Amino acid sequence: MSSSATPAGASERPVRVRESFAGRKAFILTAVGSAVGLGNIWRFPYITYENGGGAFMIPYLIALLTAGIPILLFDYAIGHTFRGSAPMAFKRLHPGAEIIGWFQVGISFLISIYYSAIIAWAACYTWFSFSQAWGDDPEGFFFGEYLQYDAGGTGDAGLSVDFVAQVGWPLIAVWVVLLIALAAGVRRGIAAVSVIGIPILFVMFAALVIYSLTLDGAVDGLDALFTPDWGALTDPQVWIQAYGQIFFSLSVGFGIMITYASYLKRKSNASGSGLVVGFANSSFELLAAIGVFAALGFLAAGTGSAVGDVVSSGLGLAFIAFPTIIAQAPASALVGVLFFGSLTLAGLTSQISILEVVMSAVKDKTGWSRGVVVAIVGGSSAVISIVLIGGVSGVTILDTVDAFSNNIGIVGGAFIAVLLVMWVFRKMDVLIAGLNTYGSFRIGPLWKVLTGVVLPIVLVVLLYQDISTKITEGYGGYDAWVVSTFGWGSLGLVVVLSVVLSLMPWRSGSAMHTEDPAIDEDNYDELVGSGETTEGGTR
Ligand code: ALA
Repeated sequence: MSSSATPAGASERPVRVRESFAGRKAFILTAVGSAVGLGNIWRFPYITYENGGGAFMIPYLIALLTAGIPILLFDYAIGHTFRGSAPMAFKRLHPGAEIIGWFQVGISFLISIYYSAIIAWAACYTWFSFSQAWGDDPEGFFFGEYLQYDAGGTGDAGLSVDFVAQVGWPLIAVWVVLLIALAAGVRRGIAAVSVIGIPILFVMFAALVIYSLTLDGAVDGLDALFTPDWGALTDPQVWIQAYGQIFFSLSVGFGIMITYASYLKRKSNASGSGLVVGFANSSFELLAAIGVFAALGFLAAGTGSAVGDVVSSGLGLAFIAFPTIIAQAPASALVGVLFFGSLTLAGLTSQISILEVVMSAVKDKTGWSRGVVVAIVGGSSAVISIVLIGGVSGVTILDTVDAFSNNIGIVGGAFIAVLLVMWVFRKMDVLIAGLNTYGSFRIGPLWKVLTGVVLPIVLVVLLYQDISTKITEGYGGYDAWVVSTFGWGSLGLVVVLSVVLSLMPWRSGSAMHTEDPAIDEDNYDELVGSGETTEGGTR
């Protein structure tokens, strides 16, 4: 790998400049846009409640500091030092490491297939909030009238991809928006959506939280959430949940932060930005827990139940509990727009980051233009997503792919990456030097211990626990063939594709041969010479 370019080098072959964020603010907002997603709004509040309430803050904070921030910095160091999509950055780190990048790309591809569907549902529910289309049976409406869900499960013919128009067309619309944003490039598309969207999201969500706190029963909701169960701290499951939440929520371990950091200009403070992103994400999560539980307290008070009887997470929280709350709350349409609008916006900015992992990797490897990659690869993801998740059995497929790609895919990808980079390729010091060159604080032995020792132990425990449960118990009560095809099968496909793609040669016009990690538009003239042209570049 060449780490610098000279005018002489430039005259031998064209030098392209990698796309970049306009500045640090754009990078931070886009990275926060990725981190703040569905995991913050519908997963964290429930996980906190189920795992010790107020006491859960201790394992959560320890997980953030000992694993979340260290692996966030690990991803930033790889992306910023080697300036490439996950496969290219890993290949530059060590020729044998490209396969790790493709595995992470594959996991992002899997997640992107179902993530769009949830955004489409949330967008529809924003609209439904005006008329309260769910009437007095939100559950029957969601699964029956809206999704026309057919769980199948009766054998080989149990699942069907029959198109459901009211789900499929909004899903197509979401894909169109996503692909336009991706095709517009890093600055005018990817960053622009977050730079505009994230401040709007924070204002909308803060308004929702303030509103929820004024509702009757809000205090009971907060009591239920935060009353500490100190005994939970001795339960290993609680700690496993805390670490599991951190990985998905921070968008680490599946190539996102590597890709985004590769668009940082050379002289950027990646480590300082990492801290801002990590703490902004956790603050949003805490805000979400307060808002959601204040609203659940209101729901419990209205139905005369205990808060514990109305809590749920994921689909149940968003599409069953919240419509019930909206139906009973004063100014209901406004609450609906604030909640589902926030979910839509948070989902869109995260989904863009998940898809960019795939686009950037294919663009780097092939040297094709962004538009061609988005049309071919993005278009294929869209078609798979619309066919599989837009049909009557979409929820079963979504749930299964989600459970395997998240808990095994992300955690497994992170484990392999940390183990190989830190212990086999021994690149700890290179990464530390990369972070420290322009970073605002010094990274040293503590980070080495956390990333090289604590992280692999935590990750292997998480993996072992999840894989053994899925092997012995299956998943979600679904038929074995459903779990084998969409769960184990999709992960197997990712492994096979990772091997194949990592064996394919990098074309001579690809980013590997035309982009130099040391060059960006700020130092191009100094390093390459002002007379050179940047073929296909984005100077
Ligand atoms: N970090 C994103 C989320 O929480 C992917 O949904």
